[in-house]
Amino acid sequence: MNSEYLKFLDTCWIDYIDSTPSARKINELLSAEGEQIINDHIAFRTWSDSPFSIEHFKKIFLDWGLVHGGEYLFPNKKVRAIHLQHPTDTNIPKIFISEIQWREFSPEFAKITSKVISQLSKDGDLLSMMQKKICWDLRIEEYETLSLESEYGSWLYAWGIRPNHFTVSLNSLKKFNDILKLNAFLKEKGFTLNSIGGEVKGSAQLLLEQSSIMADRMTVDFSGTAKNIPSCYYEFAKRYQQNNGVLYQGFNEKSADKIFESTNAKS
Ligand code: NI
Repeated sequence: MNSEYLKFLDTCWIDYIDSTPSARKINELLSAEGEQIINDHIAFRTWSDSPFSIEHFKKIFLDWGLVHGGEYLFPNKKVRAIHLQHPTDTNIPKIFISEIQWREFSPEFAKITSKVISQLSKDGDLLSMMQKKICWDLRIEEYETLSLESEYGSWLYAWGIRPNHFTVSLNSLKKFNDILKLNAFLKEKGFTLNSIGGEVKGSAQLLLEQSSIMADRMTVDFSGTAKNIPSCYYEFAKRYQQNNGVLYQGFNEKSADKIFESTNAKS
């Protein structure tokens, strides 16, 4: 595998646990149980019609040797997504990139988003973008205006382009290979699962079961106003074999739609 991609994933993890202390804690708890964790996928959120739209974003990963895996639509959230995967090795983490169709929202929503996008660097350099994180002035009124129409849109405004979640592959676990058992363990340790649409999303028949914790909350400085808002969350996925004996590598729109809500402000 392209070493730049693996280095990128390491950088992402460091950035991610910084704003997602629960992920670090769960990682440590599972390691203490003797588990060796492999990530199923890492997810990013971005804006359509921007220097970091899906079209631009995916070129970076294609250059690193991943291939196009699938496309997904979430019409009620005005979000579309794709996933990229390694051509042969299912142990290499996949990338899930979703994109908000911000022009389809109200003029006010589009105006705020357009102002943010105009401040993004035009070179599409993902690594330097992630290092800079937020290069626009965060304003609480703007965050709240966006969140009235889209929790996704307000999350992206506050956090920028960075990993939204990492996902533990249950297939790599020994003791916690069963999603119900893992969920019970997480609850016993005090974590709150996303129960929107049920704690387990998907099924063995659909070849993919997923669960997630609700996002951690962090205090963010909105130009002088501190506000405690959802940051990132940790997800768990178990994949099943297709008829050809290969593990299913795709995603389920209905499940992902509910998992997006792990960053909802009301929990
Ligand atoms: Ni995910």
